[in-house]
Amino acid sequence: MAFDHKHLIDITEYSADDIMTILETAARFKEVNERRIKKVPMLKGFTVVNMFNEPSTRTRSSFEIAEKRLSCDSLNFGGSSTSTVKGESLVDTVATLCSYKIDMIIVRDRHAGVPRKIADVSGAHVIDAGDGKHQHPTQALLDLFSIWEAKGDFTGLKVGIVGDIGHSRVCGSLIPALKIMGCEVTVIAPPTLMPARPDVLGADHVTSNIDEALPELDVVYMLRIQRERLEGAPYPSLREYNMLYGLTQEREHLMKSDAIICHPGPINRGVELDSFMADHPKRSVILNQVYAGILTRMAALYLLLGGSEDGFAA
Ligand code: CP
Repeated sequence: MAFDHKHLIDITEYSADDIMTILETAARFKEVNERRIKKVPMLKGFTVVNMFNEPSTRTRSSFEIAEKRLSCDSLNFGGSSTSTVKGESLVDTVATLCSYKIDMIIVRDRHAGVPRKIADVSGAHVIDAGDGKHQHPTQALLDLFSIWEAKGDFTGLKVGIVGDIGHSRVCGSLIPALKIMGCEVTVIAPPTLMPARPDVLGADHVTSNIDEALPELDVVYMLRIQRERLEGAPYPSLREYNMLYGLTQEREHLMKSDAIICHPGPINRGVELDSFMADHPKRSVILNQVYAGILTRMAALYLLLGGSEDGFAA
């Protein structure tokens, strides 16, 4: 299957075949990650810039590990340690980096649209590592990988996404990605955390009642309450949010016996998830998602930089 994308910025530009190519490539990288020496020379000679202008634990560390395991050179750059604090523009910053003949920029920024702007003004490949409330496409890929591993197929799978839909860039990529793969998607949130037009996201069902939705779901995807993006008070208290929308031990009896629990991290324990459910040995795939972050980011780096099936045979 030909893979001819230059950037990974908007998951809706990817077909089901493109996404399956990434997931199948990620599955092949699992074997590399289970060796004693977890390193292959597949991207030797390529240079990748990790430009993180917003905090990150999982995305940043997994990109860095993915790059090291593929043997490419990386530069970690961004935030308050750069000349942007002296007023240098994004375009001038990118032009400076591109003068070093880099191959790819991975960017996280609090402003939606920054990855596309970088792609427009540079010759480098660009991966969106999360931009404002817009998209987070590699998060969607690692979520799909974890769901695929747990459930074996996407067609007709009923996925519920619960929580802060309105502020979530995870939703911006995950809902379209699930729809591309043939899932049925329900969004569940208090009206104050729902976007004005939830239909624009492409979900099949919209509800504010988690207790009615849970019995139908094969996958329960809990979102983080994004305290840093909230304006005003969309619910009376975190305790009340936990009572009305939290996935708690008391709600487990409402779930299908084989339903799984996902969360993008970081978790607000005691708010959207209690520890019983977050650490549930049979249901929680949250740490599988973290591991899938390495596998899918290795796959995205490799395929975007021109890798093919032949590279594995060599
Ligand atoms: N899920 C996610 O993007 O986590 P980080 O903010 O830690 O990268």
